[in-house]
Amino acid sequence: MKYHIQTFGCQMNVYDTKSMMGLLNGAGHEYTDNLAEAEMILLNTCSIREGAEQRVRGRIGQLKRYKDKGRLRFLGVCGCMGQKEGARLTDAVPYLDLVIGPGAIGSIARLVEELERGNRPLVDITGIEDEYDQPFPAPNEAVSYPCFVSVMKGCNKKCTFCVVPSTRGPERSRDPRIILQEVETLVQKGYKEITLIGQTINSYRYDGIRFPQLLERVNQIPGLARLRFTTSYPSTSIRALFEVMASLDKVCEQLHLPVQSGSNRILKAMRRTYTREEYLNQVRYFRSLYEGRALPPAITTDIIVGFPGETEEDFQQTLDLVREVRFDAAFMFKYSPRPGTVAAAMINQVDEYTKSRRLDTLLQLQHEIAGEMNRNLTGSRVEVMIERSTPSSQGGMEYESRMRTGRIVKLSAPAGAYSPGDLVQVLLTGCTSYTLFGDPLSSGESTQGGLKIHVA
Ligand code: 5AD
Repeated sequence: MKYHIQTFGCQMNVYDTKSMMGLLNGAGHEYTDNLAEAEMILLNTCSIREGAEQRVRGRIGQLKRYKDKGRLRFLGVCGCMGQKEGARLTDAVPYLDLVIGPGAIGSIARLVEELERGNRPLVDITGIEDEYDQPFPAPNEAVSYPCFVSVMKGCNKKCTFCVVPSTRGPERSRDPRIILQEVETLVQKGYKEITLIGQTINSYRYDGIRFPQLLERVNQIPGLARLRFTTSYPSTSIRALFEVMASLDKVCEQLHLPVQSGSNRILKAMRRTYTREEYLNQVRYFRSLYEGRALPPAITTDIIVGFPGETEEDFQQTLDLVREVRFDAAFMFKYSPRPGTVAAAMINQVDEYTKSRRLDTLLQLQHEIAGEMNRNLTGSRVEVMIERSTPSSQGGMEYESRMRTGRIVKLSAPAGAYSPGDLVQVLLTGCTSYTLFGDPLSSGESTQGGLKIHVA
């Protein structure tokens, strides 16, 4: 059967989609990008904010026409919204055939068999007993970046704003042998860069192996050039991870460390377990480990504005923290009350207008900082890895590549000059706030950046 999957939300969903594709292709089904010819469409959904759910609801409505007249036999909702809504979705939308949570991903091929036998609608949100302790087969498609490998799922934190612990369950760390096997398979398929993912990846623990040791092992895989990971929680034990990170040649100089707020009062109400001062100390320590290198490491973050009870003063503290840290990038959100969470029941909700105003102010500040950082980088020589190419308007190709720190660099070169995964030394010649432009250096001219120079 020809099928299509549309992915919403986080990297874990991208990974889950790939896992489902591997399993469905293995069962003889075939992926298509053409909705008109798809016999099954799955929406792999996100519940993190209200807006994410609204987008999915809109999409379900739009897809009805493929059900009414077209080839579409089965329409399904997977992922966090499936877990959260369950049979409420099939009750409300009679043309939905399948609703599953993230825990049922390992059973997708069997569920589709049942649909084919005429059993519908199917709802499986029984839990988190996924077939997680085996490597998920990667679909046989062209290499495309970023490429994620999950090392742990779920979350044991108690952040009062967050729905994830209830949609993805408690932390489960994966057997390191399975992780290594999955990464090795991807490297054999041609991947040069892997991003390890987990909701709070520094909580990884399997038979005494913690995340720093796992990184050391993955770092040793021959053929792999670059290794990234996300997301780290600013916990007290994170320094050991920073030290290992800075010592490993393949681990890129990029840390995603969500701060959420710059106000201790709000951090406490969020039940984040660190203070503003502790966070700032962690950032300082992390940066100190890279002193003397040509380029500083990148730090990115997530920030919520308008959490219940956030005053103008609290918000100013967030702005101050952003000015002090100077994040390379920040994902910034208006607080969105999620049903069932502690914060949704708080009585001191911030009005929508104030949330929007604060978000705009924060976006503007971060935009200025990112632009300044990019301007400071122009003139540097750096190593980039090619990710993809598109034909450019002047003929030839525009290649999109990434620095080790995660910044995007665009290069122009003749068609066929590079393939995804190639490491190229470039001179950064110009920028916008979010993109750098570079010229490839002829081989022999080396860069000074990074810990070690990889030559393509
Ligand atoms: N409202 C707004 N943002 C949220 N996030 C998580 N839950 C909410 C919510 N209820 C943000 C956090 C988290 C990121 C993935 O999404 O910043 O780090």
